[in-house]
Amino acid sequence: MAEISWDLFEQQVEACRLCGLCGHIQHKVPGQGDRKAPLMLIGEGPGQVEDEQGLAFVGPAGQLLTRMLEAIQLPRERVYICNIVKCRPPNNRVPTPEEAEACKIHLRMQTWLVRPKVIVLLGSTAAKAVLDPEIRITRERGRWQERKGTWIMPTYHPSALLRDPAKKVQAWEDMKSLRGKLIELGLYPDLYAPAQDLNLE
Ligand code: URA
Repeated sequence: MAEISWDLFEQQVEACRLCGLCGHIQHKVPGQGDRKAPLMLIGEGPGQVEDEQGLAFVGPAGQLLTRMLEAIQLPRERVYICNIVKCRPPNNRVPTPEEAEACKIHLRMQTWLVRPKVIVLLGSTAAKAVLDPEIRITRERGRWQERKGTWIMPTYHPSALLRDPAKKVQAWEDMKSLRGKLIELGLYPDLYAPAQDLNLE
């Protein structure tokens, strides 16, 4: 068997024809960021801008995501960002469970390569594909669970926040919880100096 590597991952995604989505796209969108990041963010699937550029989360939702990360002092280039499906569904429809399942081979390889300590699932599609097909994001968002040594939290998708800004209050709670988890686990020590959070004054 070929050794698992980033080269193999990229070739596998490029050659993939496991579902019909690739028939309608301009570019595959494998994901990008720090390949050694302790934090991985997983969204749903590429939108129009992502399909044009071959990069995840570079459209309006991506810009909001960048600002959310900045709000917890986390530069976006310090995390790894990808999606459940690597090809844009036509008209940005939600990927079917079959499409999500077919694409999991790529996500599994990617997760194996990055080995994140923390995963944030952005929106219902990611939460359903990774945690539980029956999950309700409104109920489960912000709840942490540990799976094989990795801490996972679902939260709202940034597109949902753009559609319904009232959800931003809860999303901000989740971002603070994420920051707390990263500090608790001693991740990004250069960004989150311990003294900063002890409130010693
Ligand atoms: N929405 C997603 O889920 N992923 C992207 O890359 C862009 C928008």
